[in-house]
Amino acid sequence: MEARYLRLESAATDIVINTHPFAEIIYWGPHLHHFTAEDAQSLIRPVANGRLDVDSPVTLMAECGHGLFGSPGLEGHRNGEDGSPIFTTVEVAQEGQTLTLISEDRLAGLRLTSELRLDACGVLQIRHGLTNLAASDWQVNRLAVTLPIAEYARDVMAFHGRWIREFQPHRVTLEHDSFVIENRRGRTSHEHFPALMTGSRNFSESQGSVWGVHLGWSGNHRLRAEVKTDGRRYIQAEALYLPGEMAISAGETLWTPWLYASHSTQGLNGMSQQFHRFLRANVIHFVQDKPRPVHLNTWEGIYFNHQPAYIMKMAEEAAALGVERFIIDDGWFKGRNDDFAALGDWYLDEKKYPDGLRPVIEHVKGLGMEFGIWVEPEMVSPNSDLYRAHPEWVLALDDYPQLLGRHQLVLNITLPEAFDYLLERLSWLLGEHDIDYVKWDMNRELVQPGHGRRAIADAQTRAFYRLLDTLHSRFPHIEFESCSAGGGRIDYEVLSRCHRFWASDSNDALERNVIQRGMSYFFPPEVMGAHIGNRYCHATYRQHSIEFRGLTALFGHLGLELDPVSADAREREGYRHYATLYKQWRQVIHSGTQWRIDMPDSTTLAQGIVSQDQRQALYIVSQLAMPDYSLMAPLRVLGLDAQARYRITLLDHPNIRITDEGGHTMRQLPAWMTTPQIVSGEWLMQAGLSLPVLDPESAILIGFERV
Ligand code: DGJ
Repeated sequence: MEARYLRLESAATDIVINTHPFAEIIYWGPHLHHFTAEDAQSLIRPVANGRLDVDSPVTLMAECGHGLFGSPGLEGHRNGEDGSPIFTTVEVAQEGQTLTLISEDRLAGLRLTSELRLDACGVLQIRHGLTNLAASDWQVNRLAVTLPIAEYARDVMAFHGRWIREFQPHRVTLEHDSFVIENRRGRTSHEHFPALMTGSRNFSESQGSVWGVHLGWSGNHRLRAEVKTDGRRYIQAEALYLPGEMAISAGETLWTPWLYASHSTQGLNGMSQQFHRFLRANVIHFVQDKPRPVHLNTWEGIYFNHQPAYIMKMAEEAAALGVERFIIDDGWFKGRNDDFAALGDWYLDEKKYPDGLRPVIEHVKGLGMEFGIWVEPEMVSPNSDLYRAHPEWVLALDDYPQLLGRHQLVLNITLPEAFDYLLERLSWLLGEHDIDYVKWDMNRELVQPGHGRRAIADAQTRAFYRLLDTLHSRFPHIEFESCSAGGGRIDYEVLSRCHRFWASDSNDALERNVIQRGMSYFFPPEVMGAHIGNRYCHATYRQHSIEFRGLTALFGHLGLELDPVSADAREREGYRHYATLYKQWRQVIHSGTQWRIDMPDSTTLAQGIVSQDQRQALYIVSQLAMPDYSLMAPLRVLGLDAQARYRITLLDHPNIRITDEGGHTMRQLPAWMTTPQIVSGEWLMQAGLSLPVLDPESAILIGFERV
C-alpha cells in the first residue's frame, strides 16, 4: 500500500505522519512553511546490510513484529497467544488539527484507536485506545505511547526527588540503550515526576532544541528515552501495570493516559511557555475568574491543636495582614489529636468544636475571607471507628499484612461501599458548611495495592478521579488543592480536577527556590502553592529572613503557613508587605510569560515574568549560596519589547544598604540602583542589567515598566 502523509500544524510545531500501511510519525519539529507530501519521501530509509531485508518503521505502537527490537508499545497476550500484534491502518480521519487513526490486527483480535491533537500553542496531546475484538480476555502487560524524536536529541533531563525535596532536575547524555523512569508508588510521586525532556547537546533555558513530554496520570507510570542500535530515538510513556492487573474483555477498550508533548527551538523556556499557555487555555478551570487569593493555612501554625477561640484570633490577624482565604488544616475531625488515629472518621470533633464549625466559618467570612478545610479521604487509621467497623475496606491483598505509612492504611475506594461512605461524609462536610476550598491530602504510598488476590492500583487511581469528579458536580463552587505530603500528586490529569498544588512540605526558601523552579518547567505560577513559613523552617530547621521567604513565595500562589498571632511585629510587617506586593503583581505573575534565565554561576537562580502586553516585567534574582565570582553576571532581561524603553525599579532589596558606600559586599552599587534609569528593551535583552553582589540566601526583585 502507498504511503500517505498527513500533517498537523501550529505556528510553532508540526507533526508529519505516514498513515499507510502502518502509522508512523516521521517528523516532530519546527513548523514547516512549505511542506508537501512529496517532500516526505526524502526520508525513505535505506535497508542496511547485516540486518533484516526490510525497513522497520517505528510505528505508533512500536510493534516488535516490524523488526523493531527496542521497547515495544504493547505487551500482552490472550492466554499465552496473540502476543505479537501488527496493526494495519483501516481508517483515518483528520478534522483541523485533530487526527484519529484506527488500525487493526484481525489475527490477534485487537483494534487500536489513536488520537492526536495539536493545539494552537504547539502542544501535542496523544493517546491510544486498545480494543479487544475477540471473545476471550486479552491480558495487557504494557500499553504505551511512542514518539520518535530527532537523532540530535542526545541529552536527557528528568527530575528526581523525595518528600520535602520535589522536582530536582538531573541530566544524562544518552548515546545508547535507554533512560527509564519507573514509578510504583501508586501516586504521581515525589520521586519520579512523569516527565522527560530531551534535546540537543547542552540545551539550556534559552538555547537548543528541546522535546518535552509529560504523562497526565496520577498512578504508576513508566517513561523511557531510547536509542535504537541504528541511531533512531524515541520517547515512550505509559501507565505502569502491576502483574496481572490489567485485562480487557470482549469489546472493552483500554485507554492510555494522555501524553502531552511540546517541542521548542528556544530551549526549555520555549517548551515551558507552550505548556503554560496550553494549560491556561485547556486544563486549568478556576471556579471564578478572580485573582488567586492570599492564603493562610493553619498547619505549621497550630498543627493538631485546634481551639476555636484561638483559630478565630488567627483569622482576625490574618485578615489584618491581607489574607483572603483561611484554611483549617488537619486536626478538626473526631479524635484527631496526632497522626496516629482517626483518619476515616469524617465527623466533627465535638470536644474541640463544641459549638460546631459554623461559628468559626462565620467569623472567617465576617472578616471578608473565604473558608477552606483539609481532608485526606483515601486513608484510614487502624485506630479509627471506620477501621474497627470495616477492616475489610483496606486496600490490601488477602492474608498479607499491610505496611503502615504515617501510621495509616489506604482505603480501597474501588469498593462501592467505601466510595459511597466517603461521598456521603464529604457531601455532609461540603453541603452542610459554607466551604469555598478543600485541601485534599494523600500521605501514603500504595504497597501491594490489591483486593482479594489481584492488584488494583490502576482502578484505585480511577476511583480517586471518580470521587473528585462526583464532588465537583455536586459542589461546582468549591476549589480543590491537590496535596500529597507536599508535591506527591502533581500532574495534568489531576490538574483538570483541581485548582492548585501544594508544591512541597518544605517552606525552606532555599529548598523552595529549586523545587519551584523545577515545577515551573511544566506548571504556571498560579497553580503552585507557595507559602511564607515560620522563620525557622520546620522541615529543615534552617532560618531565613522574612525578605528571602517573602520573595521566594511571590512567584506562585502566595500564602502564609504559620501562626500570625504568635509572630513578632517585624515578622508580621513582613507578611503584610509581601501580601501587598503579591496583590500588586499577581495579575502579571498569573497571566504573563515566564522566563528562566541561564546564569553562569550555578548558585544564582534568576527568573522573570513579562505581562502579555509586554508593558510590565517582574524579575527576581535569588542567590542560593556564596557566589562563585566576585561580580555577578549581568541579568539578561528576556521577553521585553525590543522597540520599547523600560523604567527600571528596584522593588525589594533586602541585605543591601543603599548608600554611596554600598554595603559589606560592594563599595559601589550598580548605577541603576541609585540613579533612575530608562533603558531599551533590546539592550536589556541583549546586553543586560548589572546586578549587585548578593549575599547567600537572599534575593532582589526588579520591576520593568514600559515608558
Ligand atoms: C501533609 C501535608 O502536605 C501538610 O501540608 C499537612 O496538610 C499535613 N499533611 C497534615 O497532616
